[in-house]
Amino acid sequence: MANSGKFDGVDFCKLDIELLTPELRQLGQGFRCVRGEFVTYWKQGRIQREVDSYLCQCWMVRVEDALAGYITLLADKLQVEDALLARESVKYRTFPAIKIGLLAVDRRTKGLGVRLVEWAIDYVITEVVPVVGVRFITVDALYDADVEPTYDASGFYVKLGFEFADPTEPLPPINPYLTMYLDLKPLIEVLAIEEMDEDWI
Ligand SMILES: CC(C)(COP(=O)(O)OP(=O)(O)OC[C@H]1O[C@@H](n2cnc3c(N)ncnc32)[C@H](O)[C@@H]1OP(=O)(O)O)[C@@H](O)C(=O)NCCC(=O)NCCS
Repeated sequence: MANSGKFDGVDFCKLDIELLTPELRQLGQGFRCVRGEFVTYWKQGRIQREVDSYLCQCWMVRVEDALAGYITLLADKLQVEDALLARESVKYRTFPAIKIGLLAVDRRTKGLGVRLVEWAIDYVITEVVPVVGVRFITVDALYDADVEPTYDASGFYVKLGFEFADPTEPLPPINPYLTMYLDLKPLIEVLAIEEMDEDWI
């Protein structure tokens, strides 16, 4: 959907991504999302309650006092049928991960969803990976077959390089989501090479 109104011409790549604090809680009055439940999660305090209970952390982007989008991150484990890392001589089928819990943008923005996910990947690689073992980013991509047309967020994550934890899962899934994952190792290695190149300059 094209930009309109309060987000006209905003370059979301240049805006800060801020950790949700008690002062920022009251923003979001005019937040509009293609999925109304994501407005409710914010306005009725679900996200804040989960933050207060240390179940997730939430980051947000605002344009002045208008909430433009938010993302939550939490600890997770990825479970798969195949030994994904067999080539690395690792036989596990369960791996440490960080999960994208909730992700939502105002429907009048453009490009903010990608910006938030790319920021999260970068954040996990630079801030979490150096101190805690974490190999994957996971997400339960919303799949709602009760609306016409079916709402399927997995296509958004496919564009960002995520893969399906169970590629053979029949549709519609039993639960209203498709679990997906992104392998961080190739990205970590690219980042390491870039840093080495910078050191040489
Ligand atoms: C999913 C969501 C965060 C995507 O954010 P967005 O800002 O609309 O995405 P962007 O504008 O950055 O779009 C990036 C690309 O993904 C595409 N895309 C977005 N949603 C998609 C979907 N469901 N299926 C396939 N492609 C999708 C866009 O068309 C765009 O493609 P382009 O680069 O070729 O133009 C947003 O639609 C949203 O808030 N949805 C409601 C809540 C939700 O479903 N959250 C995810 C739950 S896990």
